Amino acid sequence: MSSILLVISLVILTATVTSGYLSGMWPWKTCKTACFLGFGCYSSEKPFDNTQGVLPLSPKKQGLQFFLYTRKNPVRARKLKWNQKRIQGKLNLQRDTIFIIHGWMDSARNPKIRRLRKTLLRFNNVNVIAVNWKRGAGHNLYYQSAANTRIIAAMISKFLLRLQYDLSYSMEKVHIIGHSLGAQMAGYIGTEVKGIGRISGIDPAGPSFEGYPEETVLDASDALFVDILHTDARDLFVLGHPGFGAKSRMGHADFYANGGHSQPGCPSTMNQQLGLIVTGSVDVFMNMGCSHIRAMNLYIESVNIRKCKYTSYNCTAGDGLDVAEGCNTCENGCALMGYHSNIGNPRGVFVFNTNEKAPFCIPETVKLPESIDNTILES
Ligand SMILES: *[C@@H]1O[C@H](CO)[C@@H](O)[C@H](O)[C@H]1NC(C)=O
Repeated sequence: MSSILLVISLVILTATVTSGYLSGMWPWKTCKTACFLGFGCYSSEKPFDNTQGVLPLSPKKQGLQFFLYTRKNPVRARKLKWNQKRIQGKLNLQRDTIFIIHGWMDSARNPKIRRLRKTLLRFNNVNVIAVNWKRGAGHNLYYQSAANTRIIAAMISKFLLRLQYDLSYSMEKVHIIGHSLGAQMAGYIGTEVKGIGRISGIDPAGPSFEGYPEETVLDASDALFVDILHTDARDLFVLGHPGFGAKSRMGHADFYANGGHSQPGCPSTMNQQLGLIVTGSVDVFMNMGCSHIRAMNLYIESVNIRKCKYTSYNCTAGDGLDVAEGCNTCENGCALMGYHSNIGNPRGVFVFNTNEKAPFCIPETVKLPESIDNTILES
């Protein structure tokens, strides 16, 4: 059912965007600011003209929830509010905290989010907060959900600032993992809350963000370490090659899977995908967003470093994003894609290939730099 809705909204999105580009006008462009008590005003003027004049809805309309999981309660979430009264009674402040933020048309109950939080807890004794902004993310009009990320980010920021200032919780202990629009949202949080330890952008949303200035998109200034995984970096509106992800470098380290634009085992052209919709024989959602959603699988797999290391080759100096283009040795440096990408504090563009189905990770054939190997041994 939800996949049908998704396809309908994709078609509406493509149609509205195309017609909007063609006519150059938007009926809702007249109202240029929205103000909310305790949050201030949000303008749709530059640099926030990325949502074509659509303004964020009020905090009340977002239905924001935090689902807290720990090793003690890995299955049933404890609910926290963004304006939680006594945080210290609910959250163990000795531990690090990982936020997981989903994307458009998604929710924190998505099986991939569940797998990610379970895997994270298996390997780390941390607080995992799955951010549920299903209502704000569920608008058929993509621009509405994209605009809403600013408000949700402000709410999460208020929560973090209270942790920081009232409870002396170091922001270095915070790691935000965001998929798609959730990654761009993490960028807004990083702008409001200084010194966040890490942001992992999992195929950050391209439409409405790519090509906009730093204030509007996730970038390296938003956390002490920002790692990005690109899997679906194509222009959504170029006919025949739709893509949900962003292509350009955004973090300290950017990882491009299989060239970064379309993943093996996924239908690659619009025609193929439309064909699948028409025949209706497969889960359309999985196919439309296959390359975009694949990023989650890769990141989840990367957590278990003992099983397989996602060795990625430095391609910063080259102009390609592909292993095939000569970036296939550790001579110029290597890094690990995914959860362990912070090992060695790498900088630059890194490329790697995967299998077309699980396990996606291809065991490394090259020797890793000693600095990386030693860190793994110690961990
Ligand atoms: C990757 O290459 C760039 C430029 O060639 C360099 O600045 C960077 O330090 C390298 N990164 C690693 C992890 O070796």
